[in-house]
Parts: sequence; structure tokens; C-alpha cells
Amino acid sequence: MPHHDATLADHSVAVAFYAFKMAKLCGMAGNADQIVRGALLHDFFHYDWRTAKPRSGGLHGFDHPREALENAEEEFGPLTRIERDCVLRHMWPLTPIPPRYGESLLVCLTDKAIALQESWRALRSGKGLGVL
Ligand SMILES: [Fe+2]
Repeated sequence: MPHHDATLADHSVAVAFYAFKMAKLCGMAGNADQIVRGALLHDFFHYDWRTAKPRSGGLHGFDHPREALENAEEEFGPLTRIERDCVLRHMWPLTPIPPRYGESLLVCLTDKAIALQESWRALRSGKGLGVL
């Protein structure tokens, strides 16, 4: 289930790593554990988004955060309110409700930066984005 030429695991670890680094720079190191868990789980869905749909039958971009949260809580038990917000709100502003906490805003912005870097790398390698 690649995100362009990166796997979802590669993507999630990169988001967690850079969100952790940014948390330290932004004075949020006290909640770094929740930021890392939220980042690692933000895309915890189990289908290839290019060829399949979420369980809801809706659009991937809008519905995968809810599915990722359901999968995460089924696998690991209840998440904290910050971890839940990291997962549920990471697609803002595509999804209309913004992150509620600084920690979840940090994961949301880091996800976009990493996705942009992955897209740029895929384009530069000549592989394209693999979505068209
Ligand atoms: Fe996502």
C-alpha cells in the first residue's frame, strides 16, 4: 500500500520522526510520546488506497482517518484524546474539522510535508505519482 514510492510504514515512521523533532523545537516535548503514537497510527488502514475504498464505501481522502482510528483502537486499545485527534484530523483542510490540539496540528502539518517530499521524490525519479 505505497504512498507513491514509499510504503505506508515508511511514511508513518517518517511522519513520527519529524513530528518528534518538531515537537522538541516547538516546546511540545512533554507530549512527544502521544505525538509519536498518533503519527505512527494516523494512516493505520489496511487497503491499497489506489485500488480500494475504505470500509465505509466513501472516498479515501475523507474516510480513512476514521477507519485508521477504528483499526488502531481495535489493535492497541483506547487512544488518548490527543492521539485520537492526531489520527482523526490529519487530513484537514480536506476534511472540514481542524485539529483541536497543537500536537495534532503538528502531526497534520508534518504529514503534508512528508507527503510532499515523497511526491517530489517520485516525480524526480520518473515514476510519477502512481494515482492517475
Ligand atoms: Fe492519511
